[in-house]
Amino acid sequence: MIDVRTCEINLNHWYVVAQSKEVSTKPIAVQLWHHSIVLYRDNQGKIHGLENSCPHRRVQLSEGKVINNFLECAYHGWQFNEQGDCTLIPYLSDNQALPNCKIKPYSLQESDGFIWIFLGDKEVLEEQKIQPMSLPEWEHLNYIGTVSVIDCQAHFSFLIENLMDMYHGHLHDNYQAWTGAQLKDLSTTEEEVRATYEAQSYYKIDKIWSISQLFFPRFRSLHSEQLMVRYIYPHWQSQLGADFTIYCLFSPINNTHTRAYLIHFTSLNAFWRLHKLPRWFRQLIKDKLWGTAQTMLDGLVEQDIKMIEQEQQAYSQPLKRRNYEINPTISAVQAMVKKQAKSEAIN
Ligand code: FES
Ligand SMILES: [Fe+2]
Repeated sequence: MIDVRTCEINLNHWYVVAQSKEVSTKPIAVQLWHHSIVLYRDNQGKIHGLENSCPHRRVQLSEGKVINNFLECAYHGWQFNEQGDCTLIPYLSDNQALPNCKIKPYSLQESDGFIWIFLGDKEVLEEQKIQPMSLPEWEHLNYIGTVSVIDCQAHFSFLIENLMDMYHGHLHDNYQAWTGAQLKDLSTTEEEVRATYEAQSYYKIDKIWSISQLFFPRFRSLHSEQLMVRYIYPHWQSQLGADFTIYCLFSPINNTHTRAYLIHFTSLNAFWRLHKLPRWFRQLIKDKLWGTAQTMLDGLVEQDIKMIEQEQQAYSQPLKRRNYEINPTISAVQAMVKKQAKSEAIN
């Protein structure tokens, strides 16, 4: 029987490794499922990703610099082009040839504020035209975003179970936007598990001042809303009524370390007067309000990480103790993790 806690990721999907704003002409090191990758921008602003290991002495190329669009290693100054070929050794003598020491280039895309990497089979990528998850709210003027980074010492299955199991609102107390969730519907398709809960939401974003509900509990009042959560393998999306959309973009590092980006969007759709204002002004509002939910989102993340890491620690104990689960969403999520891991093994 496959153990969900040791499942591989299905590599034939796009995974996030960084936010666009984190990558400049100064190289940075990122990791994705046992791969160490150096990311950098060339002088035209285009992003490139190479194996983060200089073939000369195996130091990290992320210590180096971008010189005329080539990545230069910090140690002896060897340079590499975007395909990973060594193009220059500063002390090469006339009778020596450049060594044939290619490093691996990665397929990447920049979209909706993130850098995405595809580690899988290039033929499958082209045949199936696999695309990164889209976040239309990222650029849309009617949405205000907040990003929080999740970095936890646990297998990614613990994180997705946490995100799909809305009964854990119990943990979040004052940070959570809703309470009293009840599972109403659960469905699974080829690549998606969808759970619909009925919940009592604290927030209603229908007046401009309602944004202040995020800071002052006394402005909140409970009302029924639908809370939908979707595991769109390998990422997650949730919708609370019409006002809030949250994404979690996964970036699993290895079997016991998971990074992810949680992106919270508050909708301004209810403010029809706002939409009549000039675009530059709406953009200004979007930019000024960016990060409004930071304290709340970081607080939620901190509480979740603590629980998720304890689950992993309990799992890693030599003495195995069984769990007792009553939410059917969890078995649907585990089945998806296992099925995707299996399809990776077949590919
Ligand atoms: S280790 Fe990179 S140039 Fe020598
Ligand atoms: Fe949570």
